[in-house]
Amino acid sequence: MMRIDAILSRYGYCSRREAAGWVKRGRVTLGGEPVRSASAKADPAAVRIDGRPVEFVNGLYVALHKPLGCTCSHKEEGELVYDLLPQQWLNRSNGVSTVGRLDKETSGLLLVADDGAFVHALTSPKKHVPKVYEFETSAPIPAEAVALFASGELLLEGETTPCLPAELQIEAPCRGRLTLHEGRYHQVRRMLAAVGAPVVVLSRIAMGPLRLQDLQLAPGEWVEIDPGLFA
Ligand code: URA
Repeated sequence: MMRIDAILSRYGYCSRREAAGWVKRGRVTLGGEPVRSASAKADPAAVRIDGRPVEFVNGLYVALHKPLGCTCSHKEEGELVYDLLPQQWLNRSNGVSTVGRLDKETSGLLLVADDGAFVHALTSPKKHVPKVYEFETSAPIPAEAVALFASGELLLEGETTPCLPAELQIEAPCRGRLTLHEGRYHQVRRMLAAVGAPVVVLSRIAMGPLRLQDLQLAPGEWVEIDPGLFA
């Protein structure tokens, strides 16, 4: 049970101070009846706001099709991935963040959640959630790259531990797929640059059991997901 004013602010509808006004205008109901006071207590799952259940009452977990050109950051200059999301999500008291990052010039599947433990677990190197990337290069991908990436011996410039084994599929001279089990800075671009095939187009097409293709999202669109898929 939570106070109504705490529910409204916790889930990003308005500030605790503004909650009294929402209650007074009859916007908050319980069992079909307007709630009388912002200090009344209720189960958030039973409350209706403007006739609708509290949004993402058990936590916000969505898959977003990240478009090109926006940055996965709360504070950098230019267009941010958070500009694509409803302000109400950003007002939730549990901060909303992306699960890892995609570069500004990478598109594709990006998870967004307000559950710090979920975000942490999925980005932890221990979790090894497979991430599949589709890419195009400006030079042919050498056939030897398949064995090198699979070997677990590729050492990227400036690093002291080699990349975990990764699966490379060459689909055309300058096009392929790479499955990673970790997420280092600019990893796909750096791995392919290391074998002389600079990446010019990059998109993440799957994370664990989620495939962007199945979600049918246009760039900028999102859909709620079940966090249990990653348990
Ligand atoms: N590897 C990259 O180089 N960029 C991304 O955005 C993700 C993986």
